[in-house]
Amino acid sequence: MQLIFKLGKTPLLSIAEIYSVMQSKNIQFSVINADNNILYINLDSNIYPDILMKILGGTTEIFTVEDIITRDNAKKVKNINKVNIDNEKTAYGQIVAKQDIKEFEKKEINKPYTQGKGGMLPSKLAKIMLNLGITKDTEAIYDPYMGTGTILMEALIQGYKVIGSDINTDSVKGTRKNLLWTSEEFGVENQSQLFLNDARSLPEQLLNRDENISIVTEPYLGSSWSKPVSKNVRNIKIINSIDKMIQSSIRSLTKILKNNQRLVIIIPSFKTKHDIIYLKARSMDYGNLRKISIIPENFLFESKKLGKLESFFYYREKAIVRREIFIFEKY
Ligand SMILES: C[S@@+](CC[C@H](N)C(=O)[O-])C[C@H]1O[C@@H](n2cnc3c(N)ncnc32)[C@H](O)[C@@H]1O
Repeated sequence: MQLIFKLGKTPLLSIAEIYSVMQSKNIQFSVINADNNILYINLDSNIYPDILMKILGGTTEIFTVEDIITRDNAKKVKNINKVNIDNEKTAYGQIVAKQDIKEFEKKEINKPYTQGKGGMLPSKLAKIMLNLGITKDTEAIYDPYMGTGTILMEALIQGYKVIGSDINTDSVKGTRKNLLWTSEEFGVENQSQLFLNDARSLPEQLLNRDENISIVTEPYLGSSWSKPVSKNVRNIKIINSIDKMIQSSIRSLTKILKNNQRLVIIIPSFKTKHDIIYLKARSMDYGNLRKISIIPENFLFESKKLGKLESFFYYREKAIVRREIFIFEKY
C-alpha cells in the first residue's frame, strides 16, 4: 500500500512524529519521497489510515495512491484527487483521512481549567510531543510541569496512564478537572496520579514505580514576553534562572527513566532586538541521557541528505519565545 501524508506547518517535526509512531507500533515502511509538503511511503502491512490519523498531530491528510502520472497529464484531468510528488510526477488516488481541526479547538476552548491564553501550548504540539516520547514499551506518561495538563489529556486519549505534577496547587486541582472532562468527553479511562512538586527535585511518588515511564513536558518559559527581550539585568537574571531550572529538572528526571525510555522537552530561546539568546541547557552533557534524531541521518528531504537532526523549532516568525523540542533517550 502506498500512502501520502500531507504535512503540517513544521514538516520535519511531522515526519519525525510519523517515524516515532510507526516504530512504536512496529510498522515497517520505506520512504519514496519527502519534501516540505508531503511524506510519500510504501507500507508492507495494511493499516487503517483513519486510526493513524487519529493518533497523529502533525499530519493534515492521508492519501492512498492509485497511480502515478506526469504532471502535464495530471493538469488535463479534472475531478480527481491528486498530489504533486515532485517536479515531474503527480499521484492520484483517494483522501482517506483528514485531521479533525474541530477536535483540537474543542480541547483548547472547552476544557474547564485554563491558565490564560498567552503562550498556551497548542494541543497539536502536545500531541506531536507525546508521540515523539512514546516507545513500544511505554506504559505511562509523566509531565513534571503539567500546567493545565494539555500533554496529559492527549496521553489519556491514547490510553496511557498519566502522572502529572506542578509547583502550583491551582494547576493540580485544575488539571484534575481537565482529565475528568477528557475521560468523559472522549470515553477513556481516567488513570491519573497528580501531585504538587518542584520539578528541580525528584518526586518521591515516582521512586518505586516499575512501569516504563516517558516524560513529555513544556517547562516554565518565563513571564509572557510581549516585545523583543532587552538584555537588562532583570531579564538576564530571569533567563538564567529558567536555564538553571531546566538543567536541574533534566538531571533529576533522568533518574525516573528506564533504559530506552525518552524525555521530550521544550527548551526555549528568546528573541532580542538583534539576536537570539539560547540557554546552556540545550547543549549540556546529561550523563546517560543522549539526544536522539528520530529521522534517519541518510533520509532524503527535498532531494538532499538530512544528516543528524537533534531538535525541532516550533514558533511563529514574530514570536519572542521560541520553542525548541529535544528528544533524549536513557541508555
Ligand atoms: C509553560 S507552563 C506549562 C503549560 C502546560 N504545558 C499546559 O499544558 O498548560 C509551565 C508550568 O510550570 C509550572 N512551574 C514553574 N516552575 C516550576 C517548578 N520549579 N516545578 C514545577 N512546576 C513549575 C508553572 O506553575 C506552570 O504551570
